[in-house]
Amino acid sequence: MAKKKAQATWGGRFSEKPAELMQRFSESVSFDSRLAPFDIQGSKAHSAMLAHVGLISKKERDAIHRGLDTILAEIAAGKFTWDVQLEDVHMNIEQALTKRVPAAAKLHTARSRNDQVATDMRLYFKAACTEIIQRLDAAQRAILGVAEQNRDVLIPGYTHLQRAQPVFLAHHLFAYLEMLQRDAERFAAVADHANWCPLGSGAIAGTTLPIDREFTAKTLGFTDAAGRPRVTQNSMDAVSDRDLYIEFASACALVGVHLSRMAEDLILWMSAEFKFVDLPDMFCTGSSLMPQKKNPDSMELIRGKSARLQGNLHTLLTLAKGLPLTYNRDLQEDKPPVFDSHDQTAICLEVLAGTFAGLTVLRERCAAAVADPALLATDLADYLVRAGVPFREAHHAVGAVVRLAEERGVALDRLTHADVRSVHPKFGRDWVTSFHLDKAMARRRGTGMPGPAQVTRQFARWKKLLG
Ligand code: ARG
Repeated sequence: MAKKKAQATWGGRFSEKPAELMQRFSESVSFDSRLAPFDIQGSKAHSAMLAHVGLISKKERDAIHRGLDTILAEIAAGKFTWDVQLEDVHMNIEQALTKRVPAAAKLHTARSRNDQVATDMRLYFKAACTEIIQRLDAAQRAILGVAEQNRDVLIPGYTHLQRAQPVFLAHHLFAYLEMLQRDAERFAAVADHANWCPLGSGAIAGTTLPIDREFTAKTLGFTDAAGRPRVTQNSMDAVSDRDLYIEFASACALVGVHLSRMAEDLILWMSAEFKFVDLPDMFCTGSSLMPQKKNPDSMELIRGKSARLQGNLHTLLTLAKGLPLTYNRDLQEDKPPVFDSHDQTAICLEVLAGTFAGLTVLRERCAAAVADPALLATDLADYLVRAGVPFREAHHAVGAVVRLAEERGVALDRLTHADVRSVHPKFGRDWVTSFHLDKAMARRRGTGMPGPAQVTRQFARWKKLLG
């Protein structure tokens, strides 16, 4: 007989239980307990299938279901005691169930923790993607709100962080909506990839028992649009595949990159040098030393957290690389980075939405910045093009006009007709109308351009898309 009591689930061939140090080192229940609702959902479907094929009785199934429901309620109420000696969420729940329901000893029939954890995680990914898509939507609505309240505001658009051409602020904000929309599509694709049921793969090579994988898949909602069950096609791949984890973390990392770029814009726009916006006090902090300071900490933290999201992706890529098929215990380390990416992406999106919801646009500063006629130098070149001048020649001529204005120390639109005619004979008396901002914007009428007709169209499109 064993000197000490052996481990309850796999201890049959062991004479000693794990060292306390090994238990602390190898436990995952401190982080995978959040999978409990999915683990219980999976166990209910698995036991329903066992009853369906006659491997357990209907009475046993019902007793198992009742026990699992009670445990789920206890977990939800915070009354369940998690035990690190039982390693992970799966064994904690199974042991608690076995104490109450004798039939629970049959629950693990034709199942391994390898296909169990793969199933739990696929259910988890489907839920997590739905949640992130909702948060992306909420962030998009907050951004759309700012665009709507400032429909007529123009700002300079920048390349190389140098003033380039005028755009409606709404057009700039719509660029953010496009980024977040692609993110939502990515999470929808991840959820679709998650939608295959691995149960029945066993530890590596399935089972000799007459199970019905399609039944389990259907019960768990792993189905296609027509309601047909989707079951994984290779037992070895199903227990060792971690592509989804990487795809999910990658989608989160890309949200992080997008949010970080938006954050950087807002940080610049809040500086005294720009002063296009003021961020809400509720999402800023002060300095413990300099009484005048108001810092855009929410945006800086988003920028910082994007690094963490990239780190999580990298952890997962490195974890999977070089692992021989199939399951290796290394793979337990796949959960902390996934959960962290999920939680941090969710809170970043919430904070971004909150910050946009309370943002004030400083219209006069925007108007002053966009009034610079140099922003319409390209329009002046287009004026010459309309008069039949080849673009390269027009570009050169306007360059000379810019230099002349600089030499004279005047704004571009303050030169005389004679001045510009001396540069190029095709400048007519109406040359200066090129600097009329309203007309200049109205000319930008093609799809995807920042002209007022397009902006109106995009408002309609986003309102429809975001409901
Ligand atoms: N806690 C484990 C994990 O997350 C569950 C799978 C354990 N499987 C095993 N063969 N030890 O990876």
